[in-house]
Amino acid sequence: MRIESLRPAEHLGNVTIHGVRRFLELDSGASNLPHLQESREVEIVDQQAISDVEKKMAIVLPIKDEDLKVFEGVLSGIPHDCLMIVISNSSKQEVDNFKNEKDIVNRFCRITHRQAFVVHQKNPELANAIADAGYPELLGEDGLIRSGKAEGMILGIILTMFSGRDYVGFIDTDNYIPGAVWEYAKHFATGFNLAQSPYSMVRILWKYKPKLVGDLYFKRWGRVSEVTNKHLNHLISSKGKFETEIIKTGNAGEHAMSIELAKRLTYGTGYAVETKEIMSILEQFSGILPIEDREVAEEGVEILQTETINPHLHEDKGGDHLLQDMLLPSLAVIYHSPLADDAGRKMIETQLAGMEGFNAGIQIPQIKLIPPPQKMDLPKFSAIIEKYLPQIILPDGELFSRAGRPSRLPSLGQFKKIVYTDLDGTLLNPLTYSYSTALDALRLLKDKQLPLVFCSAKTMGEQDLYRNELGIKDPFITENGGAIFIPKDYFRLPFAYDRIAGNYLVIELGMAYKDIRHILKKALAAACAEIENSEKAGNIFITSFGDMSVEDVSRLTDLNLKQAELAKQREYSETVHIEGDKRSTNMVLNHIQQSGLEYSFGGRFYEVTGGNDKGKAIKILNELFRLNFGNIHTFGLGDSENDYSMLETVDSPVLVQRPGNKWHKMRLRNPSYVKGVGPEGFSRAVTDIIIPME
Ligand code: GDD
Ligand code: MG
Repeated sequence: MRIESLRPAEHLGNVTIHGVRRFLELDSGASNLPHLQESREVEIVDQQAISDVEKKMAIVLPIKDEDLKVFEGVLSGIPHDCLMIVISNSSKQEVDNFKNEKDIVNRFCRITHRQAFVVHQKNPELANAIADAGYPELLGEDGLIRSGKAEGMILGIILTMFSGRDYVGFIDTDNYIPGAVWEYAKHFATGFNLAQSPYSMVRILWKYKPKLVGDLYFKRWGRVSEVTNKHLNHLISSKGKFETEIIKTGNAGEHAMSIELAKRLTYGTGYAVETKEIMSILEQFSGILPIEDREVAEEGVEILQTETINPHLHEDKGGDHLLQDMLLPSLAVIYHSPLADDAGRKMIETQLAGMEGFNAGIQIPQIKLIPPPQKMDLPKFSAIIEKYLPQIILPDGELFSRAGRPSRLPSLGQFKKIVYTDLDGTLLNPLTYSYSTALDALRLLKDKQLPLVFCSAKTMGEQDLYRNELGIKDPFITENGGAIFIPKDYFRLPFAYDRIAGNYLVIELGMAYKDIRHILKKALAAACAEIENSEKAGNIFITSFGDMSVEDVSRLTDLNLKQAELAKQREYSETVHIEGDKRSTNMVLNHIQQSGLEYSFGGRFYEVTGGNDKGKAIKILNELFRLNFGNIHTFGLGDSENDYSMLETVDSPVLVQRPGNKWHKMRLRNPSYVKGVGPEGFSRAVTDIIIPME
């Protein structure tokens, strides 16, 4: 994203309201390098940074009897990594619209490999969970969650908190333009990258107000927001010495918040909701009124406003008389705010008195307010809702393939140790591949219910064999971080994955095997030509698993035939064996590197990949562990160079000895060195380091 650099901002005590920023380029290219030549007028937020936020963001999609084709379009505009939370209040009577919506999301998720929460606002179990968790203000007299988009939004915030995501965005489901929906999500992610404070909000200003649907809708909203903005700006101006027109998004339905901010705000109902968010921020955090939450005050709160490039086109649902129904609530929350002064209130009275349909002297109603969601007991809510997860997470059947989940998964909030281990040379003896001396330690890990995640150069098939033999049910990382395999029923919360393989959801990180082979072949040919022409380089002998028979692989590796066959089933890396003098070996490695591929040395073979490494995969898996388990502490056990990125990524790296009772030399922050080669070292790491750590 290339956007205008920071515009002027207004500061009200601890609250900063940034002026509207325009987006100049929706895609500023893939490069993450600093743009030295960049003009000072513009700022770039790169794709990686945007995607990092998207992974932590939930998009709440409120829906009430919308056109299903339009809804489908909206879904397709939500970036892949965002968690979708559909909150429906659609009719279930003659036509079961809710069922149709669920079918659409189900199909969409199945095809696109995503997961989503889909709930009905009138779901009695949800209402009970919310009541039991001490948040009855969301419920009506019938004990169910009250109707309304605002109430749906709050339910969305609660489910976002439950899902462990850091950001929540809101996008209406009556939007005709999927490209606009996509752009809103990108604006949210860009805004959170620009915000300095963890308590931030991004509000969207539609660029165009096309008049395609008569001039009804846009004129209407145009007028409402113009008036709302005017009174908000008046209120802000009255607190300082200068007039300001900083607020342009007083009614922005499309907006997003960090969950830390969202859970602290008091909300208005009906059309007051978006205006009240701004009022709540000013009332609770600016410092004009006494501040209760000192932490937020210290960090400050930021409101960012951005203007879209895509036009905004959505359903028009009502006649012009709605103007007052929309405007009144927005103005009412300003009018009744303890921040409003007499002049401001008078202005609002005059405004309303001048409008058709208002009687002079009309009382400006108090809008019903809903206290901050953080009032709710989240662990209690989570414990209750846990039972109903299979009903509210789509696609159905995918997350919960077997009945129930393994009981060893702890509940939210507990501290959890996670053990990552290399296989060859660590859990497995470097020469015999035997794990027998580690069996007691493995039993201990199982008793203590600590996840043991294999993280090795081995293929899926090879690792699965060991996992089955040892009865290990945890996720595993194959081919030096090429992919993460996660048993379908392992994590309670939804996440995005790339494909399904049998009982596993697979997150792919590596380059496809055939592409690696193709590039490698060229690089090796070039290397051989150079070696042949060089007088100093000696003979060299290079073989790759892809060129060898199962028998050859077995002979070279001492794996038995079955294991050798599995080792050959590579998906994201090629194993290369190089025999030659140092000079020619280096020539080969240089060519591999120049081709764009990367290699690491596992002790006997070179693993060639498209650039994935164990550390990157562990970071992603750690996020999932954290989401599902709360606090984690990670251990990494390894023996050789290709464990470096793993050991560097975990909290407690441990090195076991290599044959000759030596440790591989590595620069690490706080490594532990345990005595014992391979599985003996593994056992010591478990008994002496992992288990005792408090
Ligand atoms: N879950 C839920 N529950 N969703 C609802 C409900 C409800 O009771 N009522 C409406 N929705 C959904 C609609 O299906 C739509 O996706 C979205 O909420 C907005 O409802 P609209 O009825 O289309 O509202 P609007 O177009 O008049 O107003 C929108 O724009 C305003 C200005 O930006 C809303 O986003 C307002 O909140 C916003 O102020
Ligand atoms: Mg709408």
